[in-house]
Amino acid sequence: MNAQEIQGWVDAAVSAFKGASTLDELKSARLSHTGDKSPISGASRSLGSLSPEEKILLGKLVGEAKASIANSLETATRRLEDERDKKMLAEEIVDITLPVRRNHRGGLHPISIIKNDISDFFIEQGYFVEEGPELESGWLNFDALNIPADHPARTMQDTFFIEPLESGMVLRTHTSPVQIRTMLTKQPPIYVICPGRTFRADELDATHSPVFHQVEGLVVDRGITMAHLKGTLDNFARYMFGPDVTTRLRPSFFPFTEPSAEVDVFFNGRWIEWGGCGMVNPRVLQTCGIDTDEFSGFAFGMGLERTLMVRHGITDMHDIVEGDLRFTRQFGVGL
Ligand code: FA5
Ligand code: MG
Repeated sequence: MNAQEIQGWVDAAVSAFKGASTLDELKSARLSHTGDKSPISGASRSLGSLSPEEKILLGKLVGEAKASIANSLETATRRLEDERDKKMLAEEIVDITLPVRRNHRGGLHPISIIKNDISDFFIEQGYFVEEGPELESGWLNFDALNIPADHPARTMQDTFFIEPLESGMVLRTHTSPVQIRTMLTKQPPIYVICPGRTFRADELDATHSPVFHQVEGLVVDRGITMAHLKGTLDNFARYMFGPDVTTRLRPSFFPFTEPSAEVDVFFNGRWIEWGGCGMVNPRVLQTCGIDTDEFSGFAFGMGLERTLMVRHGITDMHDIVEGDLRFTRQFGVGL
């Protein structure tokens, strides 16, 4: 091996790399000029058997030759990769002016979206979400809530009774029976919300539907007062309707709360009833075996359709229940 021979290997490698016109050709040139069987690799291996003087001289030459070969390989690689990328860009053109297929993938109904949103709001504050059945016993829907047998809400005009009538089953008229189910199975402190579907023999009109949704809230803990109820409702209202919402508590009556109030929201130039609320009637707590000397609580029940109407300026309940996709799609997919 001598300097001339080594320069010959470098020249051969450089011209092979320069002459390669595709990355595949470059790959085979690389294997024959830098691979195990290439002269430069063989020279590298044989350096060990040389005399010390020769080793110093030729070792330097072989090292420099390897560096030139590697440089030239890198230049050729970059050149061919650039060419390939440019070719790809030119050939694989996407025409962004072509019309797209407008397939709607479906999504959540706005009632489901608002239900999830409300759940998130309360879960963040440490509440749990409970659910009860839509087909409910009359005892849980009425009696345990201190609603007496002769209460007008129990008449045929308001409640869907299930045949045979002796079964005592009804389609729940509100989500309040979930309060009872919760207090019968859990010890206070209790912080729950119960969103769900409810049924009443109401005519479908601008603000009523026979099938609608409520979200119940129930808190039972030590030292709970009406101030906690009001603060919770104010926060809830601001979260739902924005910081400028105007609400009012109007004295009312529910057999299961004492005192009781209805919560109204000012919307579209008038007050609209959002829900009912109050301090849980001690008789209800006692029915569920909760010590009323130690614990007190508040509860509320809001209509979800009403919430949606106020939140989005919907003036007619028909839009929410009729399932017209032109309406529903405005709320996005909510997934
Ligand atoms: C109740 O159902 C009570 N259970 C609420 C409650 C819970 C009071 C806990 C105290 C403590 P009310 O019948 O007022 O109350 O109904 C509550 C809300 O449900 C109404 O304010 C309204 O927003 C909604 N709502 C009632 N009936 C309908 C209907 N037919 N269509 C749509 N929303 C309705
Ligand atoms: Mg009411």
